[in-house]
Amino acid sequence: MTTPSEHNRCAVKTVVVPAAGMGTRFLPATKTVPKELLPVVDTPGIELIAEEAAQLGASRLAVITAPNKQEVLEHFKRFPHLEKTLESRGKDEQLAKVRRAAELIQAVAVEQPEPLGLGHAVGLAESVLDEEEDVVAVMLPDDLVLPTGAVEKMLEVRNELGGSVLCAFDVDEDEVVNYGVFEIEEVEYDGPHTVKRVRGMVEKPSKEAAPSTFVATGRYLLDRAIFDALRRITPGAGGELQLTDAIDLLIQEGHPVHIVVHEGKRHDLGNPGGYIPAVVDFGLAHPVYGPHLRQVLREILDEHGV
Ligand code: G1P
Repeated sequence: MTTPSEHNRCAVKTVVVPAAGMGTRFLPATKTVPKELLPVVDTPGIELIAEEAAQLGASRLAVITAPNKQEVLEHFKRFPHLEKTLESRGKDEQLAKVRRAAELIQAVAVEQPEPLGLGHAVGLAESVLDEEEDVVAVMLPDDLVLPTGAVEKMLEVRNELGGSVLCAFDVDEDEVVNYGVFEIEEVEYDGPHTVKRVRGMVEKPSKEAAPSTFVATGRYLLDRAIFDALRRITPGAGGELQLTDAIDLLIQEGHPVHIVVHEGKRHDLGNPGGYIPAVVDFGLAHPVYGPHLRQVLREILDEHGV
């Protein structure tokens, strides 16, 4: 008999990671450093995503890159010269850190020649899928969804209810304008997660037009049917091909879509306002840097009169 986690292990082979954005919210750092390589303590955000994908049991990371963003893929290559030097100096801990990304998962590059939107980026990943893959996960590297394991829960829901499953957060009504927003209804489901059925989805609506305060946050488990839908959408919000619109099209055609409401937290690494708290959070939890950071933060808060 296979346990649920063994079952999950075979279910998702490819995790799609759209990483072609220009990182305009993070200038000037992103003039030369892709935002996906900015470190959370000492580990680039993209490696945290690779770790989450490997934990899910996926074996392939399809990284969608822009023509001038090759460094993101470089991070998953071996560095024989550096490895040899560290080895000869007995720096085992650092050696393991250098090797880790390549050992976690096989990263493959998919080039997006032009920034035509998230839907366009995800659609390009179909070219690297094997014939028998009937589902893919999409992980947006801007979003750290904690604790990790959200997609495992979404897989359990797909196994029970079929179709596609997305991760949702319930946000303040003023925030809906930044997200893909779900129109939802209750569904019969007696499993351990908070699950709702999605009746429609709209990208970045006004506060008044938003159908709910449940929004998409960076983790998608999509039936392969998404690629066909992505071929049929036209430019939407911001003049871009939106993943939200392809999901909405699937729903309108009767494809089951559900959300798992995430119980936990999320950091938005895509802008300094979300990145700084993420680094503090991971820093405080770090066995080496945590204790000192705690003390320094108290002093800084004092200094600022907080
Ligand atoms: C993208 C999606 C949006 C989703 C958001 C989550 O928007 O288009 O539907 O809610 O990610 O972070 P972006 O943040 O790229 O503007």
